[in-house]
Amino acid sequence: MSEKKRKILVTSALPYANGPIHIGHLVEYIQTDIWVRFQRLRGHQVIYIGADDAHGTPIMIKAESENITPEQLIAQINTEHQSDFQRFYISFDNYYSTHSPENKELSETIYNRAKENDNIEKRTIKQAFDDVKKMFLPDRMIRGICPKCKAEDQYGDNCENCGSTYAPTELIEPRSTLSDSTPILKESEHYFFDLPAYEDFLKEWTKQPKLLQKEIRNKLEEWFSTGLQQWDISRDAPYFGFAIPDTDNQKYFYVWVDAPIGYFASFKNYCQNNPNLNIDFEQWINADSDTEMHHFIGKDIIYFHSLFWPAMLKAANFRLPTQIHAHGFLTVNGQKMSKSKGTFIRAKTWLEHLDPEPLRYTFASRLNARVEDLDLDLEEFEQKFNGDVVGKVVNIASRCSGFLQRFFDNKLCALDEQGEQLLTTCLSIQDTIANHYENKEYAMAVREIMNIADQVNQYVNHYQPWKIAKQIESKNDPKLATLQAILSACIHSFYSLIIYLQPILPNLTKTSQNYLNIKNISWDNLQSPILPTDHQLNLFSPLTERLKKEDINTMIEAEKS
Ligand code: MSP
Ligand code: ZN
Repeated sequence: MSEKKRKILVTSALPYANGPIHIGHLVEYIQTDIWVRFQRLRGHQVIYIGADDAHGTPIMIKAESENITPEQLIAQINTEHQSDFQRFYISFDNYYSTHSPENKELSETIYNRAKENDNIEKRTIKQAFDDVKKMFLPDRMIRGICPKCKAEDQYGDNCENCGSTYAPTELIEPRSTLSDSTPILKESEHYFFDLPAYEDFLKEWTKQPKLLQKEIRNKLEEWFSTGLQQWDISRDAPYFGFAIPDTDNQKYFYVWVDAPIGYFASFKNYCQNNPNLNIDFEQWINADSDTEMHHFIGKDIIYFHSLFWPAMLKAANFRLPTQIHAHGFLTVNGQKMSKSKGTFIRAKTWLEHLDPEPLRYTFASRLNARVEDLDLDLEEFEQKFNGDVVGKVVNIASRCSGFLQRFFDNKLCALDEQGEQLLTTCLSIQDTIANHYENKEYAMAVREIMNIADQVNQYVNHYQPWKIAKQIESKNDPKLATLQAILSACIHSFYSLIIYLQPILPNLTKTSQNYLNIKNISWDNLQSPILPTDHQLNLFSPLTERLKKEDINTMIEAEKS
């Protein structure tokens, strides 16, 4: 490989610690994990960081309703999240929590540096207050009639019926979702981060060609044209979060302040826990770092990652993101995920009924570099996985394995001219596939790979090894050599397909590696000859399972509520 070894820090958004991981979330973690595994396969140094986003009012309220402390709740959820991720083969190097000493310290550092720059301002504002629960209400905890279209039961910040956004004070007949009382307006002192002071910087910085997708750029144009606002970074007690330094009146950092800082905190925790790796944390986060930092996020949190977070980093003189990768939202059977339809599928439920890899494969076959929503069509999902992965890729190995065992004790031989040609075709697409992975064009990568799998199957159909096998009469039959060369070419080709698919299907890769008798794979293996001439295979056993329609249906029934 001519490419120089890159040092890459990769993050996925930190899921809130108040609910389970569902297949919508998994779009993001699978998208990121494929990218991460691809970079590792290429030999780069990748550190993939995750954590739970543990602060904020909803988490506090949820703990209260379960009669446990927020600390207990987030510990419990952390265990569940980690288990879900692991079982979906999401290969985090470290999974942590934003409620950590590292994060507290880093948040204070960033805040203090912003303060030294005169970027923090205090101001008294009026806010909705629940006089029964004695707490200020986040917009989402106020519901009422939309001031624009008069739809009932809408959130305090935007209307799901007409899509307009407004201030919670504009809602008609507002109610607190906590006590059902009418919120009153109450004054409180708040801390603001001077985002407008970074407008010029952000305008310049976001111009970099590779940093942002076109859709994000367009959004930014819109936001810049309406002008950036001061950002309220404080919340009143009671709140579950970090106290703002030097505030005696119980002010906390708004959850979105310390959430992205949680990326650094989890990374720092990883460096501390793995001193043998010799990763210089400071060097990775310094303003002049030669490392890369990539954030994978959903389209709903672009504002935080393309404006607030870079401005905070700039204020604190830390490094900035190298690239922000935003994806769209998941729909199931063409509609928003729904509990009543059973399509709000939790990771855990999925795993009780189905393998994780079909989901990984299906998302991959749907994902591209644009900020577009993607659909999981359950009918097509079953056909696609069974047709492609089982029917095309695994089929190559299973069609050959019986003959290899029966006639050749699972030993391969040198390829003949046609075999060489087939393998050359398989290997010829490697740069194309690598580019597709690098650019998050996974759907295109999958199409290329399946196209090659089709060609290998055509090769099998053309040479009909089963016919040759039938004609073999003795141990000295010259047709044996022909047969072995055909089968060897197929296994070599199968191996190349497995390398291509490794980022998407790590478990199929593992079972295939067992059969192929190969310890470690890397992109560098994609060279001819891909296997030694007399390579010895192991006994064949099924590499993956077919999806069954009943299992999908049972899962949907189980999620209906
Ligand atoms: N806690 C914040 C992120 C903080 S990052 C410093 C958050 N959490 S979340 O749990 O609501 O979402 C986590 C990620 O999953 C987000 O990037 C979000 O866009 C993504 N998704 C959540 N539901 C999704 C779908 N239905 N479809 C695709 N992605 C989805 O936001
Ligand atoms: Zn409305």
